[in-house]
Amino acid sequence: MLTQRWFKILLGLIAGTILFQYCVQRSEPLFNDPRGMGYAGAAACVSCHASTVAAYAQTAHHNTTTPADEKNIKGSFHNDSNRFHYRTDLEVVMEKKEGKFFQTAYEAGQQKTSFPFDIVIGSGRKAQTFLYWQDSNAYQLPVTYSVIGKCWVNSPNYPTDKVRFDRVIPIGCFECHASFVERTGMREEKGYRIDQLNKQSVIYGIDCERCHGPGAAHVAYQQEHPAEKLAKYILTYKNLTNIQKMENCATCHSGLREPMRSPFLFKPGNFLKDFYRPDTVKQSAATLDVHGNQYQLLMESQCFKGAVETMSCGTCHDPHKMERNDMKVFSTRCMSCHQQNGPKFCKMAPKLGATIVNNCIDCHMPAIPSKLISLQSEQAGSIANLVRSHLIAKYPDATSKYLKSVRDE
Ligand code: HEC
Ligand code: HEC
Ligand code: HEC
Ligand code: HEC
Ligand code: HEC
Ligand code: HEC
Ligand code: HEC
Repeated sequence: MLTQRWFKILLGLIAGTILFQYCVQRSEPLFNDPRGMGYAGAAACVSCHASTVAAYAQTAHHNTTTPADEKNIKGSFHNDSNRFHYRTDLEVVMEKKEGKFFQTAYEAGQQKTSFPFDIVIGSGRKAQTFLYWQDSNAYQLPVTYSVIGKCWVNSPNYPTDKVRFDRVIPIGCFECHASFVERTGMREEKGYRIDQLNKQSVIYGIDCERCHGPGAAHVAYQQEHPAEKLAKYILTYKNLTNIQKMENCATCHSGLREPMRSPFLFKPGNFLKDFYRPDTVKQSAATLDVHGNQYQLLMESQCFKGAVETMSCGTCHDPHKMERNDMKVFSTRCMSCHQQNGPKFCKMAPKLGATIVNNCIDCHMPAIPSKLISLQSEQAGSIANLVRSHLIAKYPDATSKYLKSVRDE
C-alpha cells in the first residue's frame, strides 16, 4: 500500500514539474481556465478526442447552460406569441431590440421594468428559465419557456398576480447546471444567504473536466508524448468501484441537498458523504420525487439490489452521446442482463411476441409527473412535467396504457 501511495505522489510530482516547466518556458499560464492551475478547459481536449467532443456537443449536459442568444432561447419573440398575462392589464412581453433579448413588464400599456436575457438554464428538453446579471448577482426573469407546452409560462413558484424581477439565484443552480462560477462573497438579506458571484468566471454547460477531474497535466503529457497510446495523469474510470461511478453522477442526480463543500470540487473517486449533509428525512421510494432523484430510485430497484457490484448509471447511459427517446437502444441495455431466452426474461413475452425488444421502458420505467415542479401556462393551465421513474418495477397501469397505445397504432 505504502509503495503504491509513494508511487502516486511521485507521479504527481513529475506531472507538476512538467506543467511548471511549460509555464516557465512560456512565462504565462499554460491554460487560462477560471478553475485555476490543473484545469485545461474543454477546448484543449479537441485535438486528440475530436469525435467524443463532437458527439458530446449534442447532449443535454453540454447545453444545460448557455449564453442567451437567438440559437439558444427556444421561445418565440413573434408578436403573436411573445406575451404572458398576469392580469388583463398586466403583462410581460418578450422583446428583441438590436439583437438583444428582453423581458419587459407593461401595466395598463405603460412600460414598467425591463431586463435582458443573459443566461439560459435548461438545454431545451422540457423547459428553459432565464437569468440576468446585476453587479455580482444573477436574478431569475419572471417568465420561463415550456418546451413541452410550446408556450411562455410563469416561472415556477412565482406569484400569479404580480411580476417579480427580484429573485436572486443561488450558486446551487450553477453547481448542477454549469462547470464553474467563482463565489466572491456572501451576504445575508432577510434571513436568506445570498451568494455573490463573478460573472466573468462562468464556465457554461457541464464540461469534460466536470466529470473527469482536472486534465491539464494529462494534456501536457500527451502533447509531449504523441506516440503514447496510454493515458496518463487522468483518472481511469474502469478502476473506480461501482458506487464511486454512481456517486460521480449523483453529485447532481440525487436531488436538492445542502452542500458542505463546493460541489465544483467533486472529482471522480470522491464520495458524496464528504460533500453533502446527509438527508435529514429518510425517504422511501413511494415519497421520493421522480425529479432529479434517479440515484435513490435506482438503488431501490430490484435490478440494482440484485446487481450491486455491476450496475451503475453507465450500464444504460453513454455519457458522451445524445440517445434520448431511443427506446430500442435502452431496451438492448436491459437485455444485457435479461436475455431474451434466459430465465430472467419478461413474463409478458409470450403475449407481446417479437415486438417486446422495441420497448421495455414504457412498461417498467414509466414517465410520471414530478410533484415538485409543474408550470402554469396562461391558456392550458398546469403543464405536467413528466420524468422517467428510475424505480424499475412492474407497473400494471403503465402496462395497460402501453398495450392500448400499441393496439391503437
Ligand atoms: C495530446 C493528446 C491528448 C489531449 C490534448 C487530451 N487527451 Fe485524453 N487521452 C489521450 C490519449 C492518447 C488517451 C489514451 C487513449 C484513449 O483512451 O483514447 C487519452 C485518454 C483519456 C481518457 C481515458 C482515460 C482512461 O484511462 O480511461 C480521458 C477521460 C481523457 N483522455 C480525458 C481528456 C480530457 C478531459 C482532455 C481535455 C482536458 C484530454 N483528454 C485531452 C490524449 C489526449
Ligand atoms: C454537474 C452536474 C451533473 C453531473 C455530474 C451529471 N449530470 Fe446528468 N444532468 C444534469 C443536468 C443539470 C441535467 C439536465 C440537463 C438539461 O436538459 O438542461 C442532466 C441530464 C441528464 C440526463 C438526461 C439527458 C437527456 O437527453 O434526456 C441523463 C440521462 C443524465 N443526466 C445522466 C447522467 C449520468 C449517467 C451521469 C454520470 C456519468 C451524469 N448525468 C452526471 C447534471 C449532471
Ligand atoms: C442538485 C442539482 C440541481 C440543482 C441544485 C438545480 N438543478 Fe435544475 N436540474 C437538475 C437535473 C438533474 C435536471 C434534470 C431533471 C430531470 O429531468 O429529472 C434539472 C432540470 C432543470 C430544468 C429543465 C431542463 C430541461 O431542459 O428539461 C431547468 C429549467 C432547471 N433545472 C433549472 C434550475 C434552476 C433555475 C436551479 C436553481 C434554482 C436549478 N435548476 C437547480 C439538477 C439540479
Ligand atoms: C457526464 C459525465 C461525463 C462527461 C461530461 C464526459 N465524460 Fe468522458 N466518460 C464518462 C464516463 C462515465 C466514462 C466511462 C465510460 C465507460 O464506462 O466506458 C467516460 C470515459 C471517457 C473516455 C475513455 C473511454 C471512452 O469512452 O472513450 C474518454 C477518452 C473520455 N471519457 C473523454 C471525455 C471528453 C473528451 C469529454 C468532453 C467532451 C468527456 N469525456 C465528458 C463521463 C463523462
Ligand atoms: C445489471 C443487470 C440488469 C440490468 C441492466 C437490468 N436489470 Fe432488471 N433485474 C436485474 C436483477 C439482478 C433483478 C432481480 C431479480 C432477479 O434476480 O431475477 C432484476 C429485476 C427486474 C424486474 C423485476 C422487478 C420486481 O420488482 O419484481 C424487472 C421488471 C426488471 N428487472 C426490468 C428491467 C428493465 C426494464 C431493464 C432496463 C431498463 C432492466 N431490468 C435492466 C438485473 C438487471
Ligand atoms: C436500467 C437502465 C438505466 C439505468 C441503470 C439508469 N437509467 Fe437513467 N434512464 C433510463 C431510461 C430508459 C431513460 C429514459 C430515456 C428517454 O426517455 O430518452 C432514462 C432517463 C434518465 C434521465 C432523464 C429523465 C427524464 O425523464 O427527464 C436522467 C436524468 C437519468 N436517466 C439519469 C440517470 C442516472 C443519474 C442514473 C444512475 C443513478 C441512471 N439514469 C441510471 C435507463 C436507465
Ligand atoms: C406491455 C408491457 C411490458 C413490456 C413491453 C415489457 N414488460 Fe416486462 N413485465 C410486464 C409485466 C406486467 C410483468 C409482470 C408479469 C407477471 O408478473 O405476470 C413483467 C415482468 C417482467 C420481469 C419479471 C419477471 C419475473 O420473473 O418476475 C422482468 C425481468 C421483465 N418484465 C423485463 C422486461 C424486459 C427486459 C422487457 C423488454 C425486453 C420487458 N420486460 C417488456 C410488462 C411489460
